[in-house]
Amino acid sequence: MHSSFLKLVEHSCILGYERAALVLRRGPEQKLWGSIGSGFRSRKFHHRTTTNCCSTASAIVPADDKYGNKQVISITPRLYDYILSNVREPVILRQLREETASMCGSQMQVSPDQAQLLAMLVQILGAQRCIELGVYNGYSSLAIALVLPETGFLVACERDAKSLEVAKKYYQKAGVSHKVNVKHGLAADALKSLILNGESCSYDFAFVDAEKRMNQEYFELLLQLVRVGGVIVIDNVLWHGKVADPMVNDAKTVSIRNFNEGLMEDKRVNISMVPIGDGMTICQKR
Ligand SMILES: C[S@@+](CC[C@H](N)C(=O)[O-])C[C@H]1O[C@@H](n2cnc3c(N)ncnc32)[C@H](O)[C@@H]1O
Repeated sequence: MHSSFLKLVEHSCILGYERAALVLRRGPEQKLWGSIGSGFRSRKFHHRTTTNCCSTASAIVPADDKYGNKQVISITPRLYDYILSNVREPVILRQLREETASMCGSQMQVSPDQAQLLAMLVQILGAQRCIELGVYNGYSSLAIALVLPETGFLVACERDAKSLEVAKKYYQKAGVSHKVNVKHGLAADALKSLILNGESCSYDFAFVDAEKRMNQEYFELLLQLVRVGGVIVIDNVLWHGKVADPMVNDAKTVSIRNFNEGLMEDKRVNISMVPIGDGMTICQKR
């Protein structure tokens, strides 16, 4: 291979999915691959592998010189194991995760590092009134309920009765049932009835993890329900990386991509897209 032609096969892990990416680079200035365009802001990236005596980690450097030589870490399976080993997962959450592992849909629940971040946001906010859309077996809702004060509560919206049975069993086991108000049905309907009930501007925190194509509608309803300074977190904003791939244009991907694009221009909220799990955007109502 020509010396100015560097070819790397880099293993990275997004959401536990191991994938191999072929990266071609010709010298420091000429990038052959890695350009993202059409439909969203264009970005180019260098991928490089940094090595020390006992480990290898991948790093990405934005090709735009105005970002300088800033290296952003790229998660490898080994690094993700390390991250997981640094999560303080309560025993009851571990039990729920382990019981769910063999069940259909187990990949849907948030990762322990995501759950820990959600719980911390709730604590930082001193949240009393929370909403979750998309409960499944209850992993993220239980993480939230565990850190809520005795006077706090979570409105937990889920359309699947079977999943709710598992969730309720764990709320009971954890002694937090009194803090969780389960709404069985469509999430948007539950939000509309909270608004009709005069609860606008009274919630501190909301987590959105239900039907992805409904995110814009959920967001509009939640903006009515959450107080100024309150936080709305949306899960799966990176959608397994598909949002950044112009070749992927299925309805779900396009809808998440459009939602992300809309948030960039939305002056009603402060935003931060965090590459944790499948990507979460944290929005704070202004
Ligand atoms: C990704 S899972 C939620 C995972 C959960 N947050 C956790 O971490 O364990 C999405 C859930 O949303 C529910 N769901 C999907 N569309 C819904 C809707 N329109 N209304 C209510 N629940 C919905 C599904 O039944 C599923 O259980």
